[in-house]
Order: sequence, then C-alpha cells, then structure tokens
Amino acid sequence: MENEGRKKKHLIFGGCDTTALAEKYGTPLYVMDEQRIRSKCKEIREVFLAKHENTRAVYASKAFLNMTMCKIIESEGLGLDVVSGGELFTAIQAGFPTADIIFHGNNKSYEELTLAVKYDVGRIVVDNVYELEMLQKIAKSNKKKTKILFRIAPGIEGSTHKYISTGQKDSKFGIPLAEEQLNHVVAFALKASHLELMGFHFHLGSQLFENGIYIAALEVLAKLMKDMKERYDFVSKEVNVGGGFGIFYVEGDQPKPLEYFTDQIMDKVKSLCLEIGVTVPKVIIEPGRWMVAEAGITLYTIGAIKDIPGVRTYVSVDGGLPDNPRPALYSAKYQGDIANKMNLEKVQKVTIAGKCCETGDILIWDIMVPPVKSGDILAVYNTGAYNYSMASNYNRLPRPPVVLVNEGSDHVIVRRETYEDLLHREEIPMYLQKKERIEMI
Ligand code: LLP
Repeated sequence: MENEGRKKKHLIFGGCDTTALAEKYGTPLYVMDEQRIRSKCKEIREVFLAKHENTRAVYASKAFLNMTMCKIIESEGLGLDVVSGGELFTAIQAGFPTADIIFHGNNKSYEELTLAVKYDVGRIVVDNVYELEMLQKIAKSNKKKTKILFRIAPGIEGSTHKYISTGQKDSKFGIPLAEEQLNHVVAFALKASHLELMGFHFHLGSQLFENGIYIAALEVLAKLMKDMKERYDFVSKEVNVGGGFGIFYVEGDQPKPLEYFTDQIMDKVKSLCLEIGVTVPKVIIEPGRWMVAEAGITLYTIGAIKDIPGVRTYVSVDGGLPDNPRPALYSAKYQGDIANKMNLEKVQKVTIAGKCCETGDILIWDIMVPPVKSGDILAVYNTGAYNYSMASNYNRLPRPPVVLVNEGSDHVIVRRETYEDLLHREEIPMYLQKKERIEMI
C-alpha cells in the first residue's frame, strides 16, 4: 500500500496517523476509509452505469455491513444485496430504501421471506422450489406482488478457491439447468398470482480475475432465455451477473479494471440478445469485495516475539483468526507494514501469528519487516472485505471496533465489544446457580 504521507515514519491512512488511531481506540482495530469506498462507487457510476444504459449496481453487503455503510451506499445511489434477515434488518434500521434491496440466499426462512415481503424488498432472488412455493404463499397472505429473479447454476467454474467458487454444476446455490426443474419453476412463477418473474441471476464465485467465465455463463443463460421465450413466451427483463471481481492482496494477484469485466459483459449481452431475438434486459452487477477490500486495514499491537533459531521468528499480535478468519479458511494471503516504522528498511523475515489457541491462526507467513519490538503496531492491508463481517468470538476474544476515517477525521461506527457484551445473552439455569462443589481429596 502506498503510504499517503510518503517517507513519513508513520503509516497514514484516510488522512489519519494510524499509530494515533491505535493509541486512541486500542487494538485490534478495523479502520475503513470512507473516501476509498466512495471512489469505488464513483468508478461504478462512471465506467458502468453512465456508460451503459439500463444498468444497475448493488453492493453485496455480506462483504462489510453496518448501518453507516448503508448510509454511504444509499448516498452513492447504489442498491444493496442482502442474504439474511440480519442483513435486511440492518438495512431497514438504517432507513435504506427497500425497493433498492435484492434478497439472496439458498435457504431463506419463512420469517426472513415474510420480513422481505412486508417491507417490499425490490427483488427476491429465488434459489429453489421450496422457497418459490413458500414465497407465493407469503406474498399472497400479505396481499403483495413480489418481484423475483431465479438464480441459476450455469455450470461454469472459475479459478478461485474451491470454497468461494459458486457457478459450477455441483453447487448448493441456484436451480440446476436440468430442463425439468427449470421448466417447473418458470411455469410455476408465471402462473403464480402474487409473484412477478423479472429474469435470471448467476454468481460465479469470488476473487475472479478473468472475464471469460462471465461470457461463458452468459452463453448458457442465452440458451435458457431462448428456450423460455419459445416455450412460455417469457422475455427476461433483467439479468443479474453477480459480483466476484478480484482485487489485489499480494504479489502475483493481477486485478483488472472494472470495465474489463463490465464492457465485455455488456457487449456479450447485447450480441446474444440480438442472436436470440429478444430486447436487451437491464443488467445488474453486485460487487462486494471489489468495493470495500482496499478501503480497510486492521491495526494490531505486537506482543510476544519468539525466535526459533534456524527455523523462523514468530511475531504475535493481539488479534488473528477471530477478526480475520480468511487465512485459515481459504489460505488467503495478506501484506502489511509496521505502522510506526515506515521509514525503516525491511531487514528481517518474520511470521505474523494470531493469539488464538489454534495452530492455523497465522495471519501472514514470511513477511519482511524492519527490526520489530513488542509494542510496535502492525497494519494489515486490504482487510475491508469479509473480515469484520466474518469475525467471531473464538477464544472469547471481544470483537474489535470499526473506525471510519475520512480525510483526517475519525469516527467509531461500531464500538469495541466488551467482556460484558460477551455475557450479554447468557443465562444460568436456576438449579445450577447455588454453590455446590464436590470436595477434592
Ligand atoms: N452476489 C452473490 C449472490 C454472492 O453470493 C456474492 C458473494 C457476491 C455477490 C459478492 O461477491 P464478491 O464481489 O464479494 O466477490 N467469504 C469469502 C467470500 C464469499 C463470497 C460469497 N458471495 C471470502 O472471504 O473470500
């Protein structure tokens, strides 16, 4: 990451001295830069929305969501993709316009769908027959006409980690392309009194670097659209191509600009529609990681340093797997710097270990740093996506706060969890409350 205050001793991020932030708020600390998020929104508007007509962009909120983020996204004129009642509730509480929300998920519950229907969520992306039938009943009993898309599994595999690949045939997501199943759901939706079928959706995976798989998936979808037109005279008004655009984490990652994906996608949609003789549908994208990953860093304080001669030096920090499970889950790689020693030469190779009782809790293997001491501040870069949103309390570590920085100002948008917060929802059954103890001999 480029230090905003080049040659300075301290890492500057969002106009703020990160070591001062660490001192003010403690560590571990998530820091999100509002301007970096807004500049992504602007890029989407310039290279996609303004360039191609009849398009829409929604932010995949699973990457990073809280009420402040909803406010930012709303002010930027984008929509929101949610995948659970909790995400939907957050958006509702933040006053996000529900017509601009898309609700995803492979196993939405009755309660979640009811919440979505009652609040007139813009689109529900139906993943399976079970959901379809339930949704028709819910919409009917609430006297609503709910707009839906079908998520399909196009049978296209991207080259990304197996756990974040979703477009393949053997996936828990989406309706299989088997003719019988597809015909059944489409016929059902077209007849359903309280549903309105708007089109189709696919999401191929995350951290993708090539546009080829979007093109391949669109070809599959075009066949389907042609078939649906011939069979049911149904013309898709919308096509949602999901998110997945990759970002830079470490050397070797070669992210492409947004228009590398979107221009190709738009060209392909237009040419395919011409081929199959249908009007070009509205095209929707829903990036998550691409919008927020680079807008976030995590600050840690270095504690124990253990040198195993001839083997490696473990530098332990005051967080790890609970605030960033990605290295353990997906072998994700990160870069970082010693935030209070930016001007010093990197002379030493170390391994950054988290503080969990878990061998796999290593944040970064083999990173070059200046001479480090306990008390130094480590900044890990590009942690804005899928870190805060995937944080846990493993080992009963309270989750870090989130501080929003903006051209030199800083605001807590999620406060640090306390030990009391950890006990907040606990109850001890009455019969266990009296003090009884087996005496040890
Ligand atoms: N749309 C749908 C339907 C999705 O399922 C996802 C992500 C997105 C959009 C946004 O994808 P993105 O642009 O962020 O790649 N926890 C994993 C990532 C899981 C992504 C799940 N779905 C990670 O930390 O890498």
